[in-house]
Amino acid sequence: MTLNLDPRQRAMLAEMGVRLWAPRAGNALDSGAAGARPANARVQSGIEAPAAPVAPAAAPAPAPAPAPARTRAPAPEAAPGSHAPLLVPRPEGVEAMDWRQLEAAVAGCRACALCATRTQTVFGVGARQADWMVIGEAPGETEDLRGEPFVGQAGKLLDAMLAAIGLSRQAEDAIESIADSADSTLTCGQKDQETASKDQKQGVYIANLLKCRPPANRNPQPDEIAQCEPYLRRQVALVQPRIILAMGRFAVQALLNTDEPIGRLRGRAHHYQGVPVIVTYHPAYLLRAPHDKAKAWADLCLALQVREGGQPSYSISSSTEHQ
Ligand code: URA
Repeated sequence: MTLNLDPRQRAMLAEMGVRLWAPRAGNALDSGAAGARPANARVQSGIEAPAAPVAPAAAPAPAPAPAPARTRAPAPEAAPGSHAPLLVPRPEGVEAMDWRQLEAAVAGCRACALCATRTQTVFGVGARQADWMVIGEAPGETEDLRGEPFVGQAGKLLDAMLAAIGLSRQAEDAIESIADSADSTLTCGQKDQETASKDQKQGVYIANLLKCRPPANRNPQPDEIAQCEPYLRRQVALVQPRIILAMGRFAVQALLNTDEPIGRLRGRAHHYQGVPVIVTYHPAYLLRAPHDKAKAWADLCLALQVREGGQPSYSISSSTEHQ
């Protein structure tokens, strides 16, 4: 690995907890115990496996719709004699919606019980036509209150990770492209340095698997994932990313329709709707397990390579990883 960092990027990596002298040449990933959230939720079998081509966006490069006011969906009425919220089927035609329709459909969604406990839905943020898409698990407390994904402590770490590769969630405010200056380029290898300078398209869109906060941040339930995944699928089709960074076990397992732990899925490209997916640890996990931040950095480097059409330059030993 070759690192050629400017002071800003060094600061970003320091914030990520990545010590620059730590990675070993040729294999930044070595074994290590990786704690994980309890495995008490399983992936819904109704979630499709990857490989189908991305459905084309309904309209060519739709102009970003003005952000609608974040309205609280009215609380669903309870069925007579019951405390369970009255659920309403997800709207038809999600797969053909434009951004405005999709955002409205999510805001009014009552397809699962999370509609009764959310403050508001959390749709997504960033550039709506972007090379990069980050997919997390579900809103937490702060996200539920603010209506934006990854704005709590984990979000700060995610922002630092993205900044380290030249990305910002502010669509118009992308950090100067990593390709803008060879001297200040953060590179993970020679090939990235060469290819990055040929392609300055940047931008990231950030979304979650679930659009509503599970009560007390409990794990997503299979029915919640099954109900919500079509919205994410449509977001991916509209964004048309070149690379997806899937963060955390639930997002990873739902996208890839697998029960495999993250440790066994890292280090190579998977696919969702024809888009390459790189699997990495959730920032919230990294806050609890900072010793794995170097692995997350290696995953970002791999994502950079795959986005540029390069071949992964490392493999991992995952026998001791459990998350
Ligand atoms: N964790 C996630 O997966 N997503 C968020 O938006 C916040 C925390």
